[in-house]
Amino acid sequence: MNLFNVYPLFNINPVKAQGSFLWDDKGEQYLDFYGGHAVISIGHNHPHYQNKLKEQLDKISFYSNSVQNELQNELAEKLGELSGLEDYSLFLCNSGAEANENALKLASFHNGKNKVLYFSGSFHGRTSAAVSVTDNPKIVAPVNYDERFIRSGWNDISQLEEVFKKHGHEISSLIIEGIQGVGGIMIPKAEFLKKIKDLCEQYNAVLILDEVQSGYGRSGYFFAHQEFGVEADIITTAKGMGNGFPIGGVLIHPKFQATSGMLGTTFGGNHLACTAAIAVLDVMKEEDLIENARIMGDYIEAEIKGLPHISEIRRKGLMIGIELDRDCAEVRNSLLYDHHIFTGNSNDKTVLRILPALNIKKEETDLFITALKTVLKSLSAKEQEILTHKVH
Ligand SMILES: Cc1ncc(COP(=O)(O)O)c(C=O)c1O
Repeated sequence: MNLFNVYPLFNINPVKAQGSFLWDDKGEQYLDFYGGHAVISIGHNHPHYQNKLKEQLDKISFYSNSVQNELQNELAEKLGELSGLEDYSLFLCNSGAEANENALKLASFHNGKNKVLYFSGSFHGRTSAAVSVTDNPKIVAPVNYDERFIRSGWNDISQLEEVFKKHGHEISSLIIEGIQGVGGIMIPKAEFLKKIKDLCEQYNAVLILDEVQSGYGRSGYFFAHQEFGVEADIITTAKGMGNGFPIGGVLIHPKFQATSGMLGTTFGGNHLACTAAIAVLDVMKEEDLIENARIMGDYIEAEIKGLPHISEIRRKGLMIGIELDRDCAEVRNSLLYDHHIFTGNSNDKTVLRILPALNIKKEETDLFITALKTVLKSLSAKEQEILTHKVH
């Protein structure tokens, strides 16, 4: 059997990882400045994470959600404490898309309405409702299109007001990323988020904050939107939550009433997934990783600001978008193949996406900074050479 070929692949086969480094099958070392797509929050194979999972494997790996699982309560308690959202409740699932799917459904159960407002540039996952509120025609199949899903402009307050004026009484929920990741690290303006909150309250629409990529300390806050003091009705999380172990979560405001059977999943909240997620929170707290995300993010920005070919840096903590004056592919490939550093791109071809582990060390960021400087300077040198040739 062949694999269904949907991923463009780099010809690199990592077989070992530790901290912020990977090694391939030829023994070559790579620096991971993309965290496997914002997933590696506490570094690869953190000893506490490994030990906890190994210990759990010797006890029990899985039983269904029809029995008590104390690990789920421990996870909820620790998550409430670290995020400051002790009065929210937690529903556990397996991925970001599934978390959003449940959030949209819960909102609709809650207020009985069926329209959803989303934003240009958004990415909320590839399952049914999640992809319907994703702004990328290439991944939305005809079966997912429906007039119930209404798009409004990013950071555009007047369009938002118009949409609410027209459809407000039918809007069940509004879904927005804490910071748009796939869209190219787009940060919402404080007044935009505040207006969203006001309109959601005015029209009894549920405010869903998708923190799948921007959450779990990446922005220098536990959840990115917390910087603005805006209270979400539902928050979704995944990626960094399990440091690679598949797990997603829906954090639900106390105003929502749970009823038996309302939501459900076979694998969500299983023993191994909870163990991984608990270990992540332990390390984040113990090693003060949210603070480290702020410090290292500030440092990287200060060091790369003003380099040639960078037109803008958009950043919160270690969620960094470096917009270039051209398609970033050449720079990204050179970082990977010439300097052995993984970085990411985004739907905006000019934006290099940088999402290292939250426990990245200064000397590791220096490797990236030096490499980026070299790559960008060599671009300038090449251009200069072409110009000189033209003149002669
Ligand atoms: C903001 C956001 N929401 C949802 C998702 C979907 O998560 P998953 O791939 O775990 O389904 C992603 C994945 O990139 C994301 O960035």
